[in-house]
Amino acid sequence: MSFQTAAVAERAWEKEPLTALVRFILDTHHVYTREAIASLPPLATKVHGRHGEAHPETRRVEALVHRLAGDLAPHLQKEEQILFPYIVALEETGGRSAASCFGTVRNPIRMMMAEHEAAGEILVELRAVTVGYTLPPDACTSFQAIYAGLTQLEGDLHRHIHLENNILFPRAIEMEEAGG
Ligand SMILES: [Fe+2]
Ligand SMILES: [Fe+2]
Repeated sequence: MSFQTAAVAERAWEKEPLTALVRFILDTHHVYTREAIASLPPLATKVHGRHGEAHPETRRVEALVHRLAGDLAPHLQKEEQILFPYIVALEETGGRSAASCFGTVRNPIRMMMAEHEAAGEILVELRAVTVGYTLPPDACTSFQAIYAGLTQLEGDLHRHIHLENNILFPRAIEMEEAGG
């Protein structure tokens, strides 16, 4: 799993081209999220299988991790195949982008933001059922690894969603409006 995302996130993204920001999100956050949603669900299943009796919360953790992974995979795909290419095209044409199937860029952005909200709610529930990822004294290596992996995914998703919700999306809307 990659651990590089925090250190390189400090660029002044309000000023950089949107194409560079899209590239950065894809190369760091999307790569990392794909690794996490491939490795964490089987690990959560393993931990539930081993510790379900002594630690019933591992059943809920397993269910939530699978749901989060199931939600995030199509989310990444929609950004990569629909929204991000449209934003890159908007920038290339100075806001006068080619016709899209979704009308204004506000529509897919609204959908992506609703999905961010849903992912955030799952993370909040995970933190609640694990009491802030507090390990029981008898936690094995897999138990430690799933809590460490989820803590890292939570931090990475917060930075990822911040870049999209607060920088990329508002700037894309502004660019579309300016191009009229
Ligand atoms: Fe994303
Ligand atoms: Fe997103």
